[in-house]
Amino acid sequence: MSYALGTKKLADFDMTCLSEAPHSSPETSDRLTFPISIAPMMDRTDRHYRYFMRQITRRTLLYTEMVTSAAIKHGDKDYLLGFSPMENPLALQVGGDNPQDLAECARIAEAMGYNEINLNVGCPSDRVQSGHFGACLMKTPDLVAKCIEAMIAAIKIPVSVKHRIGVDDLDRYEDMQNFVKTLSEAGCQRFSVHARKAWLQGLSPKDNREVPPLRYGDVHRLKQEFPNLFIEINGGFTLLEQAQEQLQYVDGVMIGRAAYDNPYLFATCDREFFGDKNPIRGRVEVAEAMISYIDQWTAKGLKLHKITRHMLQLFYGQAGSRIWKRILTDKSCIAGAGSEVIREAMAAILNNPLSNA
Ligand SMILES: Cc1cc2nc3c(=O)[nH]c(=O)nc-3n(C[C@H](O)[C@H](O)[C@H](O)COP(=O)(O)O)c2cc1C
Repeated sequence: MSYALGTKKLADFDMTCLSEAPHSSPETSDRLTFPISIAPMMDRTDRHYRYFMRQITRRTLLYTEMVTSAAIKHGDKDYLLGFSPMENPLALQVGGDNPQDLAECARIAEAMGYNEINLNVGCPSDRVQSGHFGACLMKTPDLVAKCIEAMIAAIKIPVSVKHRIGVDDLDRYEDMQNFVKTLSEAGCQRFSVHARKAWLQGLSPKDNREVPPLRYGDVHRLKQEFPNLFIEINGGFTLLEQAQEQLQYVDGVMIGRAAYDNPYLFATCDREFFGDKNPIRGRVEVAEAMISYIDQWTAKGLKLHKITRHMLQLFYGQAGSRIWKRILTDKSCIAGAGSEVIREAMAAILNNPLSNA
């Protein structure tokens, strides 16, 4: 089973890079392949969400939100790209279509300690299209190949691409096959494939995640025809069992919305996908583990809400979920609010006779 590709290489992975120790070296991260990852999501997978997820899963590959090459070039790099070493293994997702600019982003990402840099060729939003990047780049594989070549030449960490199975009328399997072949010849070895086409006109980004049908078979076929590439499937998975099942056909599974709507879904992930033996943290332990992080950030003036907004779904499906969310929502926006809000919400959960947190 192709899953072996992920586990075999992961056996070499030195877990000390997941502590507050120095970033993993390019040599280490070069070997990394992951059977499971959490998808890049704008306004969701920011550093605070990622730190929170690290309290649940230490091993899953995490992605940033997409950051444009223009923002990286001209913006506040620390604000846009800063992260805690605890978040490794971590991939930076960039959006852009200029090879030199993307190569520069790749250099910055590597120097900052990211483990991978990923080019977004899947986002269909109008804003992204007007900048000529995202999913519309599937129509110009030669240009994407130039971008990939420039990025690979600039760094040692892996360069990957996240794309769709097609866009607009360019949606035959052969079109995607040609796209992947062109990029693989440029040196790209890792592909995350959202198993839906995107309509660039007429559908909102949200509809483009729901309306076009999922075609998992196309992604499985891609793996069969390119056995040496790392092919990760994405789209519509809500359970780890589904991810395990997919590993019969592909090398990795990327989960997006379900990782946000039900973060504790990943609690058993390190055991099931990475053979980790560490005890699984309970939900309350996860909340408790966030307290010192919250104290550090609120002491620097960050509004509590910026962190707790990602923690609202921690008790998804549990008896105390409603009270947890209500306390966090009502109290996190109050001026000066800090980790006492978490403690209060934890106490409410623990005092709930129905809760098995
Ligand atoms: C709120 C939101 C923001 C997203 N932002 C990005 C992004 O920045 N880059 C990207 O490649 N995909 C983005 N996506 C798409 C996801 O990465 C993923 O491909 C999609 O949600 C399908 O996977 P899922 O069914 O597991 O959610 C976003 C999705 C959502 C829901």
